[in-house]
Amino acid sequence: MPDLETIVALAKRRGFVFPSSELYGGLAGTWDFGPLGAELAHNIKELWWEHFVKSREEMYGLASSILMPEAVWKASGHLEGFADPLAECKKCKKRFRADEFSGKKCPECAGALSEPKQFNLMFKTENSYLRPEIAQGMFVNFKNVLDTMRPTLPFGIAQIGRAFRNEIAPRDFLFRVREFDLMEFEYFVKESEWEKYFEKWREEIWAWLEKVGIDKKSVHELEVPKEERAHYSRRTIDFEFDFPFGKKELYGLAYRGDYDLTQHMKHSGVDLRYTDSASREKFIPHVVEPTFGLGRTVLAVLLSVYREDGERVILSLPPKIAPYKVAVFPLVSNKENLVSKAREIYNELRKHFTAAFDDRGNIGKRYYSQDEIGTPWCVTIDYQTLEDGTVTVRDRDSGSQVRHPAAELDKYFSEKLS
Ligand code: GAP
Repeated sequence: MPDLETIVALAKRRGFVFPSSELYGGLAGTWDFGPLGAELAHNIKELWWEHFVKSREEMYGLASSILMPEAVWKASGHLEGFADPLAECKKCKKRFRADEFSGKKCPECAGALSEPKQFNLMFKTENSYLRPEIAQGMFVNFKNVLDTMRPTLPFGIAQIGRAFRNEIAPRDFLFRVREFDLMEFEYFVKESEWEKYFEKWREEIWAWLEKVGIDKKSVHELEVPKEERAHYSRRTIDFEFDFPFGKKELYGLAYRGDYDLTQHMKHSGVDLRYTDSASREKFIPHVVEPTFGLGRTVLAVLLSVYREDGERVILSLPPKIAPYKVAVFPLVSNKENLVSKAREIYNELRKHFTAAFDDRGNIGKRYYSQDEIGTPWCVTIDYQTLEDGTVTVRDRDSGSQVRHPAAELDKYFSEKLS
């Protein structure tokens, strides 16, 4: 696996990830996705939505607001419990997470550290908070979904969206930031069935890891002990990844019991019970919650698919999430008829796939340039194309080249991507 610096440098050089507000020296804990990163992130979200939401009858999508009033966070327990221990250096004033190192001296300047105090991670605005987790959007809309969609248990409410945490010490590139996307669902079940569905989603997380291209050998389950679990959780398994900076949480799977709905029912005074259609019994469903950070996914994917072959860098991204599916080249750039044919084929392919066009340098360099950003296929237009309408299709992973009719490229790539 590459080191973090290699991935950070590649991400910057090729337009995947830029330091945020770089012109003004950056802002700690924030990163921007560049043109290729935006495509990659978008494709991962789409794949996640397909895998966990669209393909399942009992899943309901949601897109709730980022701003939520204090009452939500009071009920959810975040106002009180969503905090990390903070220690400040009395000399250089730098802040540290006290649970992440054991020394009594500042690791930067050896100054004395203050006694740790609990530091709430929520960003407050004038009249609300930026949500630190997207889950509460699902809980406060539980009744709306019940009333409009009439689902029967078990069912899930899913969303993808931004979350904000005022991390004490943001670090390790996309791993710990202050603003990030979450992909998550709350799966509502009968209490007696929570273990069955906990196991089901545990397996589905492994299937997702495979699909998105994360090296499964680098992922390990950790049963989180009671004292380290979030305040709402009765059981949590962390899916940890072997990042270059250590084995750390990639995803989580939590059994939240009936904690959240009970709290919201109590604090809002609104009946949030579900009525069983057969027995007419009313009760609060229990919840199993798989959660996936998008930035950590991007990082784990890049680390998993990166390889070097001599001077050549290859990102073996699953084609479905690759920023460009195909790159189109004229064999040489100074023959007008080749270039215009290549443009014609490129414009046709662009109707169906994200595609790149490149006529700079020699073919070998163009292949390498596409390998480095994970483009699965390159199409070259040469003199034979002008005669018989065939092109060369070169495969990123095997390096093999086949001739194929240009008119059938759409079908050819669609089949490979299905
Ligand atoms: N609703 C449950 C929840 O939010 P969490 O473990 O606090 O659980 C969920 O966070 C996921 O969000 C984590 O598994 C991780 O992938 C990601 N995550 C958490 N904090 C993050 C941060 N500061 N920067 C980037 N990703 C983060």
